[in-house]
Formats: sequence, structure tokens, C-alpha cells
Amino acid sequence: MKNNANTIEKIVSLSKRRGYIFQSSEIYGGLNGCWDYGPLGVELLNNIKKEWWNSMTLREDVEGLDSSILMHPKVWEASGHVENFTDPMIDCKQCKARFRVDLLGGMLNEKRKKKSVRAILENCNDEKLKNKIEDICSKNNEIDSFDIIIEDSELSGILLNELNCPQCGTQSSFTAAREFNLMFKTFLGPVEDTGSAIFLRPETAQGIFVNFLNVQNSTRQKLPFGIAQIGKAFRNEINTKNFLFRTREFEQMEMQFFVKPTDDKKWYDNWKVERIKWYKGLGMNSENLKFHDHPTNKLAHYAKEATDIEYNFPFGWGEIEGIHNRTDFDLRRHEEFSGKSLKYFDEETKEKTLPYIIETSAGASRSFMAFLTEAYDEEEVNGEQRVVLRLHKKLAPIKASILPLVNKDGMPEIAKKIEEDLRFKFKIFYDDKGAVGRRYRRQDEIGTPYAITIDTQTLEDQTVTVRERDSMEQIRILSDSLSSYLLEKLAE
Ligand code: GAP
Repeated sequence: MKNNANTIEKIVSLSKRRGYIFQSSEIYGGLNGCWDYGPLGVELLNNIKKEWWNSMTLREDVEGLDSSILMHPKVWEASGHVENFTDPMIDCKQCKARFRVDLLGGMLNEKRKKKSVRAILENCNDEKLKNKIEDICSKNNEIDSFDIIIEDSELSGILLNELNCPQCGTQSSFTAAREFNLMFKTFLGPVEDTGSAIFLRPETAQGIFVNFLNVQNSTRQKLPFGIAQIGKAFRNEINTKNFLFRTREFEQMEMQFFVKPTDDKKWYDNWKVERIKWYKGLGMNSENLKFHDHPTNKLAHYAKEATDIEYNFPFGWGEIEGIHNRTDFDLRRHEEFSGKSLKYFDEETKEKTLPYIIETSAGASRSFMAFLTEAYDEEEVNGEQRVVLRLHKKLAPIKASILPLVNKDGMPEIAKKIEEDLRFKFKIFYDDKGAVGRRYRRQDEIGTPYAITIDTQTLEDQTVTVRERDSMEQIRILSDSLSSYLLEKLAE
């Protein structure tokens, strides 16, 4: 079901209709790359964040933090973002569409890629560059060669000459590639000059690094220990796409684990296992998750080892979380730029060291989209189509609906009493409008795991039906035991 080409459109449509996700500033035509979480969306997002937060901070070796979005501008020089946080960008001179050069390959089919690689082999007049291209092509197939060449700053220009604009189709109409910094710039205080320029953080991680010793001193944690943070990050992405996958404002759930340099491999492997387990534990199918280990020549400037946890989205595999061995790069750079020591003092050995950092960096917004995609299902029931969000119970925005069969004969009174009893225990929804079958379908579509129905038999023996979303099976239980029954079920 999930790999149906229309699935994303169906999820976007359901999200809007039922209050999961709205376009930002919709009445003004929307704002590209920004989305609003509606009443159900905010519940799902909060549940994801709560599960992540608990999985991290209920451990004795991880502390929480909430650092500010605006930070000293030197932070971003030390982190390397001012220098390196750029994407190569080109414009089509004809239609003015803007593209990220390294993502262009994803917009072209295999035939087109092969054709353009053959064309540059034939047309390139520069001996040195031609040798370089031939060398790449002798070691890789044409599709992989395309991807390598397009990412090579020296060669990409030649390849661009052979390509048509994915938007208007004009050939070789691209401007030369320019490096574009993804950080949003703003100004601190009333004067807009270079001295007051600051950035919206493009990741939450730096707030953790600069607070490393504050947290360690105040909590008396010993190595190894971690600091977890959830918060907004901002990137002025050149191309936003695929709904919540690449947006300009998003939320990250990052945990930086500080270890002795000699223990880095052990903890890197450990966090890989822990993190993939987390997604599976919240209902993701193993088949839809995989690691993508970064080859050594593609590692970020700060990383010794890195992997992405990828999810099998309807548009293909996409990263939902990055796990990196960042070595002592970040602490060393912040020491250098701030002039302050960030060394850890080992009480036992009386030695000072700069710890290595193992980072787990998950996107809350991207995980949201992955969980929603994983949950979306359509099936035929009694000749009718049923849309159901098979969300894990811990993530479902509404845990149970209360449905009096009819609005008379004392049923609403019993239903209201049940509502009163459950209202502050977990999120419920009271619905007395329309045929009960339709009310079930509405709850299935938003992923509510349980539906409680008050019917004529309730009037006789005080039992109600509890219908389970996925199996649609119904059981009868005494209304007095509803609360304990559901609390137990929801904790499973
Ligand atoms: N501190 C490391 C870091 O930020 P990253 O791979 O750039 O690493 C980590 O980002 C995670 O943040 C990604 O795996 C993804 O889930 C999320 N993310 C990054 N850019 C995003 C964007 N433009 N829109 C939505 N989520 C994004």
C-alpha cells in the first residue's frame, strides 16, 4: 500500500481534512517549506517527542537540556557552519527555477543520466578533465558515475551543459553553480549592521556542546554520559519537497553522548542498535528501516564514522536520523574559538581529557512523516473501502472514542458519565453524530485505537462494547471496568 505513488497525496489530503497538518499561512497562499501541526498533528508530534525524551532521559546516564535558538555568532564559526554549511545551487536562466546541484540526479531518469554521461565523454575537450571522467566511468556504472560527477565541483559544470531543466525542459540553460549558505541570518537589537548579525540555529547540537561542562558540573555525571535536547532548527533549504521531509523549519531530537576517546567504537555501535530499536518498538516494520553507512570519502568534516537510519518512504529511502562519531572535533573547536577549556576532569585518574562525542540526531518532523506513512493503510471491508491509520497506541493522538448508539433512551447520560471518568486519564473524543458505522470509520481514519459504544444492552446490564481499531473485533465489558481495562491496554 505504502509504495503506491499516490500515497503521499492521500496522506497530505487526510492530514489537512482531519487536522494533522496544515500549510503554513494558507490564507495568504502558503509559505514554502513551512507547515503547521493541527489539533491531531500536535498530539502525534508531542507523543513522538515524549517517547524519545523518555527513552533518553529516563536513563541514569543522560541529562536533558533546552538551550536557546539564538546563539553567539562565534558558535557557528567554530562549528564550521559559516564556512561549510552550504549547498551548490544553480538557476535555470529560462524559467528561473532554482535547484540543488547534488539533488538534480534524483529528478532525472536512468536513461537521461546514461545519455548525459556518454555525451560528456564524447564532447569534453579538456584532456585533464576527460581523463578524470574516464577514470570515474571505468570504476563505476553510468548511473553511479553520473552521481559522482554531479557532486564534483570541477566536473559538474560540464555535466550541467548536457542536461535539460527539469522544470521547463530547456537545454544547457543553467547558471554556474554557486555555494549557498543554508543558515537564516537575522539581527540582534535595533541596528541592522554586520556587527549585530546572528543566525537561527541550523541544528540543536551546538547548544549541547557549549553547555557540556555546565551540565557535567551541575549534575556531577561521569564519562560516559549524554545530553538530550529537543528543539526547532532552521535551514534555508534550496528545494523543499516531499511534504514534511525537507522543510525550512523543523524539529530535531538530538542526543550527544560524551565518551572516553578509546570507547568511541563501542558506544557508536551501541547507539546504532538502540536507535533502530526505538523506531521498531513504536510500530515500524523492519523491512521499512535500514542503515546507510557513509563511505569514508563522503564523511562530514567532523565525523570519523557515520550512518543514517533510513525509512522506506513512498518516494524512496530517506534519512530520518543520523548517527555520528564526531570525535573531539566540536569541543576542540569551541575551546579554540572561545579560549575556554572544555576538558573533562577525571576524579580518579586526575587527568584532563576532551571527550569524543557520539551523536544521535533524529528529525521529529521527519519521524512524524515516517510514522504517519507507516500507519496509513487502506483495505476493503464488506465491499467498502476503509482507510485506517495503524498508529502505535503510544503515538495515537486520541486513545478512545465514546459513541452512544443513539441520542436518546438514557444512552447519552451513560456516555457522558464515561466521558467524565476518562477525560483526564487520556485523550478521548465524544461523538454522537451520525450512523455508528461512519463514526467508527472516522476514528479509524485518524488512528484512534479504541471505540466505546453505549447501546441498548448497556441499559440492561451496564456493559459497553470496546472495538479495537486494527482487528475491528468487539468485546463487551462492564462500564465500571472500562478505565482500568483501557489503561492496561494502552500501556501494552
Ligand atoms: N547535528 C547533526 C545534524 O543536524 P543532519 O543530518 O543535518 O545532522 C539530522 O540532521 C536530522 O534532522 C536528519 O536526519 C533529519 O531527520 C532532520 N532534518 C535535517 N534537515 C531537515 C529538513 N530540512 N527538514 C526536516 N528535517 C530535517
